Amino acid sequence: MTESTPNAAQSGTFRIGGDISVNRLGFGAMRVTGDGVWGDPADREGALATLRRLPELGVNLIDTADSYGPAVSEELIREALHPYDTVVIATKGGLTRTGPNVWPPVGRPEYLKQQAHLSRRRLGVDRIDLWQLHRIDPKVPRDEQFAAIKELMDEGVIRHAGLSEVTVEEIEAARRVFPVATVQNLYNLVNRKSEDVLDYCERENIGFMPWYPLAAGGLARDGSVLADVAARLNASPSQVALAWVLRRSPVMLPIPGTGKVRHLEENVAAAELTLTDEDFRALDEVGKQEWASQSRPD
Ligand SMILES: NC(=O)c1ccc[n+]([C@@H]2O[C@H](COP(=O)([O-])OP(=O)(O)OC[C@H]3O[C@@H](n4cnc5c(N)ncnc54)[C@H](OP(=O)(O)O)[C@@H]3O)[C@@H](O)[C@H]2O)c1
Repeated sequence: MTESTPNAAQSGTFRIGGDISVNRLGFGAMRVTGDGVWGDPADREGALATLRRLPELGVNLIDTADSYGPAVSEELIREALHPYDTVVIATKGGLTRTGPNVWPPVGRPEYLKQQAHLSRRRLGVDRIDLWQLHRIDPKVPRDEQFAAIKELMDEGVIRHAGLSEVTVEEIEAARRVFPVATVQNLYNLVNRKSEDVLDYCERENIGFMPWYPLAAGGLARDGSVLADVAARLNASPSQVALAWVLRRSPVMLPIPGTGKVRHLEENVAAAELTLTDEDFRALDEVGKQEWASQSRPD
């Protein structure tokens, strides 16, 4: 890898909802909070420095949620980057917080609408570029949740809308009510549960935001399944993991998370790592085998 300043522009672009162009390699702002995604980060200055570094590295898609902190992530993003200029802030609502690592879904329409209004106020924008339903709440008819999103779009509170942790059938049900611009599901080299959803998104030109692209750092560690290829390519395992997802589909918008400038810079440099067809296929095979061994019933 070169020593020059990395730039996410090298990952190529995608147009969210057909009209908001972003560099494909984005950033997940869940990790700029405290333990259990609860409260303030231990290193507040480090978190702000990480966020401020994003535009300098060409990262212009930031994923967050009202529930990260809660509110902490959105507030830090505003403190670090408002008035945003070219940076697109994508937030989410629909999960409540009753303590560290606890995320009960609430999908009542009035709650979803309130949360979008509050995110808009916290972020300091006239309209949220992309608002995503964090989870479909099984306790509430899904069409009521989708109708609330449609109303938020019609009222100009949000511009585009997305879904998270959904099946193809759920995306199709939502698309009968509002245009689905993005889908955010767990996906990485060694977790292929959402392969069919990714293929659907690619066919329909819906942005696919894989969360957990580094398996929470598991794929970034020395000794991970990527270590051999990474050593051969003179890259780090996290860079290979990100280069692989970027290569996997043109609608892929990875949002790796970190609270450290050093890790951010390392991750953005993945944009300039081009895998050969042979490396891509070999990694694909390693990942599938790893996934098959993880998902095998006991
Ligand atoms: N839709 C959903 O339900 C959902 C769920 C979870 C997350 N998300 C979104 O997806 C984003 C990414 O998911 P994630 O943060 O869970 O997982 P991730 O991006 O796979 O991994 C993040 C973890 O990896 C570590 N890391 C990052 N870069 C590294 C590097 N170069 N070397 C070593 N370690 C590194 C980070 O620690 P350090 O801070 O120490 O660098 C952090 O603990 C989140 O920020 C959030 O925006 C969405």
